[in-house]
Amino acid sequence: MAKRTIKPGPYIVPMPTVLVGSVVDGRPNFMTAAFCGIANYQPAVIGCGLNPTHRTCRGIEEHGAFSINVPSRDQVVVTDYCGLVSGDKVDKSTLFETFTGSLPGAPMISSFPLTAECRLLQSVPLGQDTLYLAEIVAVHAEEGILTKDQVDWHKLHPLLFTFPDAGYWAMGEYVARAWSVGKQHPR
Ligand SMILES: Cc1cc2nc3c(=O)[nH]c(=O)nc-3n(C[C@H](O)[C@H](O)[C@H](O)COP(=O)(O)O)c2cc1C
Repeated sequence: MAKRTIKPGPYIVPMPTVLVGSVVDGRPNFMTAAFCGIANYQPAVIGCGLNPTHRTCRGIEEHGAFSINVPSRDQVVVTDYCGLVSGDKVDKSTLFETFTGSLPGAPMISSFPLTAECRLLQSVPLGQDTLYLAEIVAVHAEEGILTKDQVDWHKLHPLLFTFPDAGYWAMGEYVARAWSVGKQHPR
């Protein structure tokens, strides 16, 4: 089929929808982020493309830490709210009950089913956004989203994001098992 060249953009979907948390002026602050992905398996490293002018990023840079908070789809309203307003204008520190683990600069949201503490390794300015590369040092999961001690996405019901339609989505149909279905390919 004929192809047209379109404007370069973030057309890898779905993206995750998470809240990134940090401590700014002694208070937790949370921002919505979709530009997040796994960069290394062992040690577990995450990369988040965040605009350094965001309040949350000031906390990341000051304390060298941040949290990743994975909502389930029924937490969409508060998740979107944290992406609509800046903590510089509205105090978001009282939106959630929070807890910390080994990194005081990584406040986590008690009511979110899956949270992680991340230690900043490197900040790479790329233009509008800075790539914050961080090691995931601990993950905290609600019992109810686990099956045999593993995160079960069918229980968590993650919130996915697509661009450019700015849509939130639930996980769709299961297609096939990875590292397995490919064996059916003719050689
Ligand atoms: C669905 C969604 C995804 C977003 N993803 C990002 C992102 O990946 N990087 C980024 O810098 N901002 C992103 N934002 C914008 C920030 O969340 C927003 O500017 C927020 O108000 C910043 O908050 P803060 O100033 O309190 O840190 C996103 C917003 C929404 C609604």
